[in-house]
Amino acid sequence: MKIEAVCPSNIALVKYWGKEGVQLPMNPSVSFTLSESKTITQLGWREALTPGFSFLFEGEKKPGFEPKIQQFLERIAHLAPELQGLELEISSRNTFPHSSGIASSASAFGALSLAIAHLLSSLRNESELDRSLASEMARLGSGSACRSLFPIVGLWGKHPAIEHSSNQFAIGLADKTHPIFKSYKDYILLIDEGVKSVSSTAGHNLMNGHPFAEARKKQAFEHCLRMTEILESGDLDEFIRLTELEALTLHALMLSASTPYILMRPNTVAVLEEVKAFRNETKIPICFTLDAGANVHLLFPESEEQKLASWVKGLARKYSANEKYLCDTVGTGAQSKRIE
Ligand code: DP6
Repeated sequence: MKIEAVCPSNIALVKYWGKEGVQLPMNPSVSFTLSESKTITQLGWREALTPGFSFLFEGEKKPGFEPKIQQFLERIAHLAPELQGLELEISSRNTFPHSSGIASSASAFGALSLAIAHLLSSLRNESELDRSLASEMARLGSGSACRSLFPIVGLWGKHPAIEHSSNQFAIGLADKTHPIFKSYKDYILLIDEGVKSVSSTAGHNLMNGHPFAEARKKQAFEHCLRMTEILESGDLDEFIRLTELEALTLHALMLSASTPYILMRPNTVAVLEEVKAFRNETKIPICFTLDAGANVHLLFPESEEQKLASWVKGLARKYSANEKYLCDTVGTGAQSKRIE
């Protein structure tokens, strides 16, 4: 028997930045689930006296990825004790170019966790797989991954004013999201395809003892609640203001860490300026967000896509590495099925 799970990446609107304990967030975060940038993982297994795994990425052995998978399997052992008697065969591929600067850990751990949750539900004779469990396992692989398991919008982190919210796993907010956001576009300008100088994990660590940590935490709780209201009402002016504020705040926290660092490149800043000027001029509701890197995500309603096509192409020509950009859309999230 084999299971195949497909999980997309996600882009945070309110950013998770800083951890507490084992992969618990310093603050709640909200993201759009994407649809094109995804990982497809096949999971096979057989009984074994000692647990173990083999891993292929795009058909090839990748020893460099094995320690992360090993750590993940150790971290989820209490949630998936059945794995102790199994040897896993994991085979994975991405639909987006490798080392394009797109974070693949969210879709990768999302897909692997969903496949394992599917396996557990069949071993446990449950009629439905437990998506919260899949999300909790994904979180233990990579924090932001836990939000990718839910369609349209995922929220992760306990917030006193948001029902069912939890630090352990994400929840889906699709049914509280305005239709305009359900087909929102995310075009990703690949400004820099190189490896980041400071990893997200190292960046999270720099929030310990950061001089603005407490203020950021308070702000992120406020922003999270406000973002859920905006996503429900469809207020685009507020969406633009808050999304851009969050992106710039994330990078401001890097700039003001005890070991400061800059992940934006000159072309990143140039694109941000272009977006603002273009929006002022055309009144088209387009905005930017950033992840922990140099690439710029352009977010806009699907109805504006045609009007923006040649402008985006021009931006990519001027500012992207090799003129590259990816076109993604908010989407319905992760799926799994038995394939053999
Ligand atoms: C800036 O989830 O990649 O994208 O938990 O260490 O794997 P780890 O970190 P990761 O951090 C993502 C940071 C972010 C913001 C976000 O996605 O919320």
